[in-house]
Amino acid sequence: MHLQFKDNVLLKNYTTYFVGGPAKKLIEVQSVEELKTVLKILNEQDDRYIVIGKGSNLLFDDQGYDGTVIVNKINKIKWNETQVDVSSGYSFSLLGSQSARKGFSGLEFAAGIPGSVGGAIFMNAGAGQMETKDPLLKVTFLNEDGKLEDYNRKNLKFSYRKSPFQEMKGVIISALFDLKKYENPLKKVKSIIKQRIETQPYQSKSCGCIFQNLEYISAGRLIDDCGLKGLKIGGARVSDRHANFIVNDDNATCENILDLIKYIQTKVYISRNILLETEVRYIPYQEIKNSDKI
Ligand code: EPU
Repeated sequence: MHLQFKDNVLLKNYTTYFVGGPAKKLIEVQSVEELKTVLKILNEQDDRYIVIGKGSNLLFDDQGYDGTVIVNKINKIKWNETQVDVSSGYSFSLLGSQSARKGFSGLEFAAGIPGSVGGAIFMNAGAGQMETKDPLLKVTFLNEDGKLEDYNRKNLKFSYRKSPFQEMKGVIISALFDLKKYENPLKKVKSIIKQRIETQPYQSKSCGCIFQNLEYISAGRLIDDCGLKGLKIGGARVSDRHANFIVNDDNATCENILDLIKYIQTKVYISRNILLETEVRYIPYQEIKNSDKI
């Protein structure tokens, strides 16, 4: 086991947004044993920590993070006929394309989603009519007492971009997905990726969609209808291709992005009386105490 806590590591290099100041400490873990050891050390020190995967839905503060960032690099995968047991640090996109190449259907939508398997389960990531919960059978979770627990999908309540893990203390370790044999899943993958390239700023630095959709209307359409495409604050810009993306155009700061979020929320609220809720997870530099909340 080789564990190395690094000091003052720039978080911008650990997110798809390329935004974020230094973490007080950062450590990469390659196995469950390493993760358990790190959590034990941090719990003893009573240090604040966050576990991240590929940083695709995260917005770190310009000041950074006053605690330890644990980067999940647990990367195992095991196929058993149509089932796949995969670690939470594994690339969700790679899992999608590999399962399609094997002739399996169920995870085609994952191809092109830049997060990790753990992140996809945590956020119940989705595209088209599919969500991560759909092909899921089981999740293995490391609870706050350092014990591994298995959760059957049937006992987990998922909804749009929500999973029970958002309210639980611990770390998603691995997942078992159940897929189906299908004649041409690769064709489906290709068309999903083609559509994404055509309608989303696929090449730009972003966190994916910034706001959650409403049940009856897409946030992108609402923002577009308010004429906000192309609007810029500092280095952050509302994408011209898809209005629910704020792209990091030119060394955007977290502050630029948060200001643009507030501006969009205000404009949409004034014109439609709808308060858009963010999908991106903003991580403040220090824990916001209840007494400091407005
Ligand atoms: N639209 C506009 N203007 C825009 C963007 C969209 O008029 O700037 C219209 C489109 O023309 C379409 C409708 O709004 O009629 C819906 O747009 P789209 O199909 O692009 O889907 P979306 O609802 O904006 C959702 C997910 C995406 C996912 C796509 C494709 C959310 C917030 N977004 O977007 O997920 O990739 O469907 O399946 O649920 C993400 O969660 O990060 C994400 C990118």
